Amino acid sequence: MEQDATLEHLLGLRHLTPGQIRNILDHAKRFKAINERKIKKVPTLRGTTVVNFFVEPSTRTRTSFEIAAKRLSADTLSFSASSSSFVKGETLLDTARNIEAMQPEILVLRHKASGAPHMLSRAIDAAIVNAGDGYHEHPTQALLDMFTMEEHKGPISNRDVPLKVAIVGDIAHSRVARSNIHGLTKLGADLHLAGPATMLPTAVESLGVTVHYSVEDALKDADVVMMLRIQKERMGTDLFPNDREYARMFGLDKKRLQLAKPDALVMHPGPINRGIEIQPDIADGPQSVILEQVTNGVAVRMAVLYLVSHRGRPAAPVEVQ
Ligand code: CP
Repeated sequence: MEQDATLEHLLGLRHLTPGQIRNILDHAKRFKAINERKIKKVPTLRGTTVVNFFVEPSTRTRTSFEIAAKRLSADTLSFSASSSSFVKGETLLDTARNIEAMQPEILVLRHKASGAPHMLSRAIDAAIVNAGDGYHEHPTQALLDMFTMEEHKGPISNRDVPLKVAIVGDIAHSRVARSNIHGLTKLGADLHLAGPATMLPTAVESLGVTVHYSVEDALKDADVVMMLRIQKERMGTDLFPNDREYARMFGLDKKRLQLAKPDALVMHPGPINRGIEIQPDIADGPQSVILEQVTNGVAVRMAVLYLVSHRGRPAAPVEVQ
């Protein structure tokens, strides 16, 4: 696959080429090697300012963007809606223009409105990185998911038999699912979605995936099982009878996991609703790579910050000593 080393912003995976995705994953591999050294810091982004603006709660994404920026020696500033003039009614655009007046090079944004990072990318000069917008996209999560899959299963592209990935749960409200669908299909994975009919977007098959209404059908011989959180905060109404019923119909337990390949990976973007979409013994079991996903998030975000810092110009691979 021909690599493309340019990345002006990272707004989503929908509009990236397979070569751009491959390039991010290959850069992340080098940054992971740096993260495994005793001294995990490189001078690569010295003099660059990265602002993390999170208008929605986050544990993993926010901390790993901050760690990633610090390991690249960037100057970082993280702030949230509750600690900013957002609470006094300032708009996102005015907030961003005021941050821009202080001349950061990169703005990482999480926002509850789908499309908010796209709007900012047209309005301000800084490179914009989408850290999750509504239920639209969460590109760095999908990239770290793909990176983790490749560490265990080898390259996703150009396989004799495509990698079978089952994504189970609340697909309709999941920006993680949407970014994974775009990214994994571009790299040639065989994607199977399952969830309650009320949580499957209409016409999602047009994105090149297979839809199942039975979780068992989706899990059969899967190489990777990705469970999703039920996003009650994004549902206007109850989309399933109750948590117990959901766990019975769609939750991942030992018996269901046996339908996948014996060495199937169990993934979850977090936060986990233990006992609902996944049983604790599976989340903490030998097939789970959930915490590896979190570890890999730092390397992937280092790669993204490094690439967007070049503002669309080709970026040379980072030297790892
Ligand atoms: N996976 C993920 O986005 O987690 P956070 O909401 O904690 O950042």
